[in-house]
Amino acid sequence: MQLDLFDTADLQQSEGSDKGESQRDEIYALRKELNEANYRYYVLNEPTLSDRDFDLKMRRLQDLEALHPELADSNSPSRRVGSDLSAKSGFRQLAHKRPMLSLANTYSEGEIRDWYERVAKDISYQPEIVCELKYDGLSISLWYEKGELVHALTRGDGTRGDDVLDNVKTIGSIPWEAGKDSPLKGDFEIRGEILLPWQNFDRLNKEREEQEEALFANPRNAASGTLKLQDPRIVASRGLEAYLYYLLADDVPYSTHWESLQAAKAMGFHVSEAIRVCHNIGEIMDFISYWDRERKNLPVATDGIVLKVNDLGLQRQLGYTAKTPRWAIAYKFQAEKQLTLLRKITYQVGRTGVVTPVANLEPVQLSGTTVQRATLHNEDFILQLGIREGDRVWVEKGGEIIPKITGKEATAGSDTGPAFRFISHCPECGTALVRIEDQAAWRCPNESGCPPQQKGRIEHYVARKAMNIEGLGSETIDLFYERGLTRNIADLYDLRQEDILRLEGFQQKATQNILDGIERSKEVPWSRVLFALGIRYVGETTAKKLARRFGSIDELRKATSEELAQVEDVGVQIAESIRQYFANEENQRLTERLRAAGVQLANREEEQAGGSDKLAGLSIVISGTFAHHSRDEYKELIERHGGKNTGSVSKNTSFILAGDNMGPAKLEKARKLGVRIVSEEEFLSMTGENI
Ligand code: IVH
Repeated sequence: MQLDLFDTADLQQSEGSDKGESQRDEIYALRKELNEANYRYYVLNEPTLSDRDFDLKMRRLQDLEALHPELADSNSPSRRVGSDLSAKSGFRQLAHKRPMLSLANTYSEGEIRDWYERVAKDISYQPEIVCELKYDGLSISLWYEKGELVHALTRGDGTRGDDVLDNVKTIGSIPWEAGKDSPLKGDFEIRGEILLPWQNFDRLNKEREEQEEALFANPRNAASGTLKLQDPRIVASRGLEAYLYYLLADDVPYSTHWESLQAAKAMGFHVSEAIRVCHNIGEIMDFISYWDRERKNLPVATDGIVLKVNDLGLQRQLGYTAKTPRWAIAYKFQAEKQLTLLRKITYQVGRTGVVTPVANLEPVQLSGTTVQRATLHNEDFILQLGIREGDRVWVEKGGEIIPKITGKEATAGSDTGPAFRFISHCPECGTALVRIEDQAAWRCPNESGCPPQQKGRIEHYVARKAMNIEGLGSETIDLFYERGLTRNIADLYDLRQEDILRLEGFQQKATQNILDGIERSKEVPWSRVLFALGIRYVGETTAKKLARRFGSIDELRKATSEELAQVEDVGVQIAESIRQYFANEENQRLTERLRAAGVQLANREEEQAGGSDKLAGLSIVISGTFAHHSRDEYKELIERHGGKNTGSVSKNTSFILAGDNMGPAKLEKARKLGVRIVSEEEFLSMTGENI
């Protein structure tokens, strides 16, 4: 079903008639659907409607409500801003000093013209309009008192928000102190948008995919999920960014919005450069079309342009409606989309055995690239859209890089092909697929015999954070696999120089590099080996915790579910996964071969003995690049000596272990807070470790 522009022809008052009744039903249905969509978007962070569909439905609701004032309801979603407040958020909720409203928005250039003309008519001259990018993240309100950042509130329900101060403080470009020497004397509020830049979003989703965690649909969801985390260290590691666009105070000492943004910039805030004061509708349209083209080159997601009356006095004169200011409006970009033929649905088996359906399309041009494949996610997605091979489908590139199918064209002649049915057997190894309870995914259960799963396990095993074996990229792993050299991780330890040299393109040096890497992997400590085994749900941190509690693979194998569950973060699901892993005979053979090859399947005595409490109670931040050990090794050293490694500098930081090229923002923060900087060498002598 393609949810496109609504037909407005039936929008006429028709009280009492069938049409009136059906419009009433439609109002109720839309209210229910939009309330549900708001909840999913703001609270669960799992949007079900695209922004465009949401906006169109909201518009339809507003139009219908205007026709039926007798059905007015102050609880209608058209009267409220969506709420991200959740009962169990764990954050302190505070009332906003000034309500946080949203903006009227439109996808139509005509309506932008109308808005400008209306404002101009109201005041009898053409006002200056500041055009800005509409950042697609989540809004934040920062409060400064006497120059100090004291609160950071999410929009919440517009009147109250969650105070996510500690998380916001991890964002490098947000100053902890600002504006003391400005005319505002440090007492003001500034609003803006928190975003996760594309690059960090891609990295995060890649990591989540490796850990079999649900992926974020887009950077906005990722940013909002991140800001609601309870651990600022994880927030810091994700790399959020902020753009500020609205300065507020009891008495703003500037006469225009433009001036206030310049003042914000001078106070040290990150204000976008993509701002222009426009003097007429032509300049406004130029700005819109320029950024509609250029926005794909920006580091963060944008979904439109915001137009604001520049003169603050005029803003006050124009005032507000119940939900939005009259002095501003947002123009939203069209997501580019095209109709094309769905030729065939094929299936891909991932490293973890999940089978993903893929749409093979008749090639079509979209935002300057040719698209011929798009993910169909899973069985439910296909069934919901009701698509089958031979349909003409809509392909869309919205905020996301990966094109998606958003619907099909319903025409006579469609729906005649065979109904869609998900495949029943793995396309790679022929094993019958199983559907995971409570999940939409089908999975191939043949973990140890299905080629992409076997290759994936080897890839995971050699990865930097696991056994760190260099020279084995995914192409080499594929090649070794196809040639029968390595079918599983234990085969790596049987590789001989002559086997590799026989392959095309492998010289002595590259070959030796691989073999050296494999040899060195025998020194990797048990905790990382445990992670490298790729037991489902056992990520890096869980592996560490398990290895600390169970000093060897034999102890872990013998552990009961209750004993496993005593380890922090280990729940029923992880315990069951570990049990299943060891129950599998193939895995038993594999780990015995690893043991025979000399891989560390137990903590070494010196590792267990090497600990101390020299760093007990200390909170240590690692920053920069190091000469003697890797960052991960320093992290381990800190923990081994009783310290805690934290992600961001705060007043609780005991010291910073600093290598070369420490980031200037961290350095500045450390200086301000008087946090001590400790060199690599100092740290090693402090803990009695060797260089
Ligand atoms: S001004 C009273 N400027 O869009 C109006 N908002 O749909 C204050 N947004 O809640 C908002 N970029 O989260 C403004 N340059 C920009 C913006 C922007 C993104 C967001 C903001 C707001 C939403 C409204």
